[in-house]
Amino acid sequence: MSTLVVYASRHGSTKQIAEQIARQLRLAGVKEVKCLPTDEAEAQLPEAKSVIVGSPVYANRWHPDGAVFVEANRQELEDKKLFLFSSGGSPDLEPTIEAGLADYAPEEQVYFQGKLSKASLNPIEKAMIYFAKGQYGDYRDWTKINTWADQLARKVV
Ligand SMILES: Cc1cc2nc3c(=O)[nH]c(=O)nc-3n(C[C@H](O)[C@H](O)[C@H](O)COP(=O)(O)O)c2cc1C
Repeated sequence: MSTLVVYASRHGSTKQIAEQIARQLRLAGVKEVKCLPTDEAEAQLPEAKSVIVGSPVYANRWHPDGAVFVEANRQELEDKKLFLFSSGGSPDLEPTIEAGLADYAPEEQVYFQGKLSKASLNPIEKAMIYFAKGQYGDYRDWTKINTWADQLARKVV
């Protein structure tokens, strides 16, 4: 029975967080860990006992790929151990997003600061970041991410 790490990602940084979580779970001895984007993960859900879903925050919401995945599979996820992580530019997760995610009754949810790279943004995104006074940079804390994965390794089945 597998552990599935599922991610949404527009610019790739949440994908890298998901891949690191999967790598760390394997290092901690968890067998059969798969890491897939939302569109490929659905087919693997029946096999999974534990599911970790991660999504970046865009305009104060989970990216649609992540939001649609948890909503469309809500019933199936109820029978599994569910863990959620969000990534974003803000120092903390917006409380309304956290409260919305709590509706899915995850065992845990966590927030990681992500990466904002000017080179990968389109002009509209650059304008949004300009007006929101967003700070470019890679804020991912790999120690925090690995620590979360390590304690997750003791909880997944
Ligand atoms: C147009 C745009 C809007 C964003 N809106 C938010 C936001 O509302 N809250 C937040 O915390 N981060 C926001 N971010 C930051 C992203 O969540 C962050 O860069 C994340 O790491 C991107 O993940 P990805 O590379 O997997 O797409 C925004 C970034 C962009 C480019």
